[in-house]
Amino acid sequence: MDHFIYRDGMLHAEDVPVTDIASSVGTPFYVYSTATLQRHYQVFDEALAGMDHFICYAMKANSNMAVLRIMAQMGAGMDVVSGGEYARAIAAGVPGEHIVFSGVGKTREEMVLALNGGIRQFNLESEPEMRVLNEVALSLGKVAPITVRVNPDVDAKTHAKIATGKSENKFGIPIAKAREVYAEAATLKGLEVVGIDVHIGSQLTDLAPYAAAFKKVAELTETLRADGHDIRRLDLGGGLGIPYERSNEAPPLPMEYGDIVRETVGHLGCEIEIEPGRLIAGNAGLLVTSVIYRKEGEGRDFLIVDAAMNDLVRPAMYEAHHDIIPVVEPAVGVEPAKHDIVGPVCESGDTFAKERNMPPMEAGELMAFRSAGAYGAVMSSEYNSRPLIPEVLVHGDQFAVVRARPTYEEMINRDSIPDWME
Ligand code: LLP
Repeated sequence: MDHFIYRDGMLHAEDVPVTDIASSVGTPFYVYSTATLQRHYQVFDEALAGMDHFICYAMKANSNMAVLRIMAQMGAGMDVVSGGEYARAIAAGVPGEHIVFSGVGKTREEMVLALNGGIRQFNLESEPEMRVLNEVALSLGKVAPITVRVNPDVDAKTHAKIATGKSENKFGIPIAKAREVYAEAATLKGLEVVGIDVHIGSQLTDLAPYAAAFKKVAELTETLRADGHDIRRLDLGGGLGIPYERSNEAPPLPMEYGDIVRETVGHLGCEIEIEPGRLIAGNAGLLVTSVIYRKEGEGRDFLIVDAAMNDLVRPAMYEAHHDIIPVVEPAVGVEPAKHDIVGPVCESGDTFAKERNMPPMEAGELMAFRSAGAYGAVMSSEYNSRPLIPEVLVHGDQFAVVRARPTYEEMINRDSIPDWME
């Protein structure tokens, strides 16, 4: 459920007509709903009720400072994967003790930053990384809390580019090797083992792979405890999918996911940590764009819009579907027709949708891409020297620009010409 609905024939973001935002900031732009973000956090919190749990928002999905502040105010921790994300989380008011550091390639500099600023745990992904963290922690006179990310060799049945739990993926250590790695970790004085980490992929629409992976983690918990390790925390990663195509997708609900967690690892007495990103932010955001031209092609018509693949890369990168709706609700009886919806960038990959049924739309009319709150703005670029588009946050009947559109000058002035060319 989200807070983007038609009211009096106009798409609203909570209580704000989307057209009001468009007149104020111009198109294209992203708009996020505070109420939806809060609700999605709460839904996970309720799904894990009865278990000691902690939700670390995977901020890679949407790391706008205002979004992070909402999450921090709800009590969420953060799952970060870079020094930059760590710095953002701290700047948004998240205490270091609520930040989990994930990722396959943490550098020494990132380790120092997090150890000095405070950290809940590092999720380690290889032995070399484990040895380096030990050295860095010892050099600072600190002990780093750690989990090791295990790769359970489970097929998450998602898009190949975002599946992470198969043995051929670069993530984690093979689960069969875990005893050996934990045994080494226990000898390293700069590290303190606190638990186990697993994350099998993103946009999962089936719970069976979760159940399979979590069962393996439960068995490993018992084995490692028998080996003498104090396994008290299980980080189960993120990945729960969202309905991108509302007419024919109904992915499992967080409640059902919570039941799987309870059934597979609930008996272990561990603190349960999860790292959802997409489910929190995805359906809390729209990308709003306007039609520049309607072009009649041979056999199909094009709607050329002012957003492009640099603003929302998911369709070009993953063949991802986003529902697209007109901002002004079509009148009853208006016949939709098939259109290709494309951006102005000079490549054919800059296609948002092919043969999509849309009501007749003319230049200047607005449409909204749904489910654009996660992996939208964060993956955008200035390709074709198109300035990054603004992000707007709505709260009830108020809205505010939470990242402004840079001017051409600001964009250009980030580059510099070397002295020898002057
Ligand atoms: N934890 C770890 C270790 C991850 O690698 C990820 C996502 C998450 C949590 C959050 O997963 P989520 O709940 O958001 O599914 N750009 C792609 C998605 C990449 C996901 C990468 N890792 C997309 O647009 O579909």
